[in-house]
Amino acid sequence: MDFNLSEEHLAVMAAARDFAQNELLPGVIERDTAQSFDPGLIRKMGDLGFLGMMIDPQYGGGGMDTLSYVIAMEEISKIDASAGVLMSVNNSLVCWGLQHYGSDAQKQKYLPSLATGQMIGAFCLSEPEAGSDATSQHTLAEDKGDHYLINGTKNWITSGSSSSVCLVVAQTYPDKKHKGINVFIVEKGWEGFSVGKKEDKMGIRASDTNTLMFSDVKVPKENRIGDDGSGFKFAMTTLNGGRIGIAAQALGIATGAYELSLKYSKERKTFGKPISEHQAIQFKLAEMATKIEAARLLVYKAARLKDAGKDYIQAAAMAKLYASDVAMWVTTEAVQIHGGYGYVKEYHVERMMRDAKITQIYEGTSEIQKLVIARELLK
Ligand code: CAA
Repeated sequence: MDFNLSEEHLAVMAAARDFAQNELLPGVIERDTAQSFDPGLIRKMGDLGFLGMMIDPQYGGGGMDTLSYVIAMEEISKIDASAGVLMSVNNSLVCWGLQHYGSDAQKQKYLPSLATGQMIGAFCLSEPEAGSDATSQHTLAEDKGDHYLINGTKNWITSGSSSSVCLVVAQTYPDKKHKGINVFIVEKGWEGFSVGKKEDKMGIRASDTNTLMFSDVKVPKENRIGDDGSGFKFAMTTLNGGRIGIAAQALGIATGAYELSLKYSKERKTFGKPISEHQAIQFKLAEMATKIEAARLLVYKAARLKDAGKDYIQAAAMAKLYASDVAMWVTTEAVQIHGGYGYVKEYHVERMMRDAKITQIYEGTSEIQKLVIARELLK
């Protein structure tokens, strides 16, 4: 498999790095503390094309490949993982899902605004009793002829308050279990759709995560995505690609923490010399760099397989499983290398350690990734 980056890939990397350094780095600590993301930054991400990277240009997207997307995700998450998750959900779950499974009318209506960041999308699968066990949907979508009536609650929804358009997974035929599930495009502001509690999270604090409530929300029939009962397949397929994005986010967090540690180790002196000259630190740096490189190869491999139209389910799950563990391990070591300084906000690595944890949880926990990998192995 060819991992050489083209001129285009290098240009995407440079643009994302530039944006992250110049626009995201100033204020990243304040946004984490305030638990809020600047809408102006979302608009800039949209203007620069980071919110609909893989979307066909006819719908306002960048028409780029998955590899370009993971390269940008890594650069942005290196500095600000909260920006990373907003970008990941909008690109891979909402825009990509709509592009591949939406009707022409749905694409025309929603993609141009979503792919350019004029509107932000949310992916509403999780419920109080349906996180890992995604088939156990309690949200109901009753077929009322020309419309559906949606009732239920969705939890831990990324961009829950900042989104304008939500892809909502709901059960239409409970007897049919997962084959009775549908996905609907639901707009904020529709009667009966309300935004509930905002979560006070350990990490990715600048990204808003909310409960969303649906009480007799009337959704026109034309807003169902795909065939009747195809919603679970839509959710699973979309999540396969989403996992590549989260793996790239984890890779970015790990790389960010590693680069800060490398720099710090050359500046900080103990026992009369920079700590980088102590073997204890050298061993840590070497192991960090090795694990990051291995994670990057898995992420790039999953992206390349997706771009080649090959099966990438297992590769995506492996990339997410490994990269998220690497992010957790590397950020913990980064705090250790920084010592007391690592434990305070100013040095960034404590935030990165908090941010890393979620990559082992969302879009399928590490245990779910192992199930997915094992299912593929045993097929
Ligand atoms: N890709 C494609 N299809 C899949 C699939 C996959 N990875 N996994 C399952 N399916 C299909 C199966 O083939 C089967 O289809 P058929 O009936 O047509 O054969 C169907 O889905 C049901 O499969 P199972 O009976 O195996 O389902 P299960 O109940 O055992 O669950 C699971 C399988 C892998 C555990 C699945 O429920 C899962 O992935 N759970 C985790 C969900 C998840 O990632 N949640 C995170 C929430 S989203 C989020 O975090 C977004 C955010 O805001 C950041």
